[in-house]
Amino acid sequence: MSDTTTTENEELPTRRDFIYVATGMLGVIGAASVAWPFIDQMRPDAAVLAAGQPIDVNLEAVEPGQAITVTWRGKPYFVRRLTEDEIASASELGEGDMKEFAPIETRLGGEEVKDWVIVSANCTHLGCVPKVIDTKPEGWNCPCHGSVFDMTGRILRGPAATNLPLPPYVFTSATNLVIGTDQA
Ligand code: FES
Repeated sequence: MSDTTTTENEELPTRRDFIYVATGMLGVIGAASVAWPFIDQMRPDAAVLAAGQPIDVNLEAVEPGQAITVTWRGKPYFVRRLTEDEIASASELGEGDMKEFAPIETRLGGEEVKDWVIVSANCTHLGCVPKVIDTKPEGWNCPCHGSVFDMTGRILRGPAATNLPLPPYVFTSATNLVIGTDQA
């Protein structure tokens, strides 16, 4: 008699455990099935991934003295080819002429491509798109609150405190620019 009672008592926790485990597993499966659509939604689709990729810019049609605007990651960037006079006027500027000093070499394309400037087309004050001007050494004038940048996008005066930022870029040939990476 006592043996039977002992056996049943030993089995009861086992059955209860099974119910607990089974209920717990159902709960986990239920939570996973509810969470999956949300997790699935968080995966970036192909268009989003493509939007972050580097872009190629064909420079063949851009003459000295011209600027074009391209879009990378949904934001505008100026690609500007300077004339020799424009480079010379920017070279004459000193530390006291600008609010954030940066040597001109750091603002131009590089050893082989010194006449190109690639900068963000959003003013560093509140984000307006500055107008291209050519009143050397001024190169951009922001229509919103009057910030003025030099030919290489360095801030000369106005409420903006910093230069137009440079995106990562690399020239893969004399006529092809890639914005979005500095690796050839
Ligand atoms: S947004 Fe350019 S000066 Fe204010």
